[in-house]
Amino acid sequence: MMVGMGCHVRPGCSIRSRYRGTVQHHGERKQAVKQEAGRWNLASHNARLRRLSSNRKAQPMCWRRVRRVETIPRMSPERDSVLHSWCVPAEWNAPTVVGGRGSRLLLEDGRELLDMSSLVECSNLGHQHPRLIAAIREQAERLSFVTSAWGAEPRRALAERLLELSGFEGGLVFFTLGGADANENAVRISRLASGKGRGLVVTRDRSYHGASYMDMALSGDSRTAHQVDAAAWGVRHVPPPYSYRCPFGSGSPHACGQKAAAAVADCIDTEGAERVAAVLMESNAGSNGIVAPDSYWPMLRELTSERGVLLIADEVMSAFGRCGEWFAWQRHGEQGRPDIMTLAKGLTGAALPLGAVVMSAAIARCIEHQMFYGGLTYCGHPLCCAAGLAALDIYREEELIERSRKLGASLFAELRKLQSRHSVIGEVRGGHGLFAVVELVADPATRAPLAPWPQQTDTQRAMLRAALDQGVSFGSRGNLLIIAPPLVIGETDLSAAISLLDRLLTRFFPVIGLEKKA
Ligand SMILES: Cc1ncc(COP(=O)(O)O)c(C=O)c1O
Repeated sequence: MMVGMGCHVRPGCSIRSRYRGTVQHHGERKQAVKQEAGRWNLASHNARLRRLSSNRKAQPMCWRRVRRVETIPRMSPERDSVLHSWCVPAEWNAPTVVGGRGSRLLLEDGRELLDMSSLVECSNLGHQHPRLIAAIREQAERLSFVTSAWGAEPRRALAERLLELSGFEGGLVFFTLGGADANENAVRISRLASGKGRGLVVTRDRSYHGASYMDMALSGDSRTAHQVDAAAWGVRHVPPPYSYRCPFGSGSPHACGQKAAAAVADCIDTEGAERVAAVLMESNAGSNGIVAPDSYWPMLRELTSERGVLLIADEVMSAFGRCGEWFAWQRHGEQGRPDIMTLAKGLTGAALPLGAVVMSAAIARCIEHQMFYGGLTYCGHPLCCAAGLAALDIYREEELIERSRKLGASLFAELRKLQSRHSVIGEVRGGHGLFAVVELVADPATRAPLAPWPQQTDTQRAMLRAALDQGVSFGSRGNLLIIAPPLVIGETDLSAAISLLDRLLTRFFPVIGLEKKA
């Protein structure tokens, strides 16, 4: 079973067999074992193996693990020392990435992979963008770190640029280390600004806002919900605007969006608006692959304003061109403007970890004379802020936002064509930028998913493995394919990847494909 949200281009978790059998024949294998013996310290592995074999029943998992290492000498040793995120540790087995250029990753064994997911939808500028690397190097030479008890030039400059780009002039930016702490701090700020103490926060089922405890409470995520008592954190969940499987039974996306927004209003009214500090929602792309119908976000804005409840847009994944705008809410113009938005991922093109909470002038005025008890040692790290500044320059000068919008529209059209040929594709969502979700179903008539969320079938995993074999890494979570390549991807690469997907769907889901054609 696929485990992690972050696992989606996760050869380590789900695509492991491809990398195991690098050495095929027995003779070659023996030779390779010899060659690798120094690096792997095979003698100590064998000693460990002997020890474990005498106690095999007591430690079955360890036995299996060591045996694998002994027979497959080229396997990455990394899992012996690193606990990776969103993974079953014993199953992690990924190749090592040693470099990258544009939309390609370079592996230790010399192979290249076309990255069709920007890793976890974060490397919007591609890999190793030279201007980004140069900016980090330059800043490192000047001043690599100073805490936020002191001023730092790139921090101030980046805050000003973000406020200007988002039209939040007069507002403030609080810098964080990533998306999860941006969302936590957005909640903290909304409670402070609204004066509602531990005011409630309304979020959606099947949303993802991060993996800290507060974020697990905020997220409506079936994989982590059991770890936390969301109600105790002051969180209320409402059904999502998931029009393909509308929780309200609506026949049209427009109506589903309206009903889902109305459910937010109902929740606020039931709890009492005076007790609700904020509504926190993904404004477009999110980890769980739900793209709200156009009717949703403006209505959310209207109903929260009417009730004096703050609206927080989680733009961690959707910003910086991913959805065809600097910030996804901008697609709705002023009618979509939130009070606060959270950023991360594309903010630095993922070259360094940085998140941000951007708040309106009105919020800034509300909190300016209150003590803000928040922040971590590395918040607003100058090196990361310098990367952020360089990233903003690159987005603008290389016209990547416009490029994403344009290529995203043709990607969407191509995927819709695939949908007409492969009935395993239940729905294609997105299309506002280089972000599209392909939902795979077992039966297009009933819309039964290929596997219950968030699981994956063996066939789907085999298809992803086959894509890797052909040099293309597709993102996938549960029964969804998430197509979100770097915004710098070449048009030829993009269409080659879609053609490959077409061939793989035919190969791995042939019966369903034929049924639909007939
Ligand atoms: C919409 C959204 N919010 C928040 C997060 C959490 O961000 P981070 O992993 O940087 O903590 C993610 C991560 O995928 C996300 O997609």
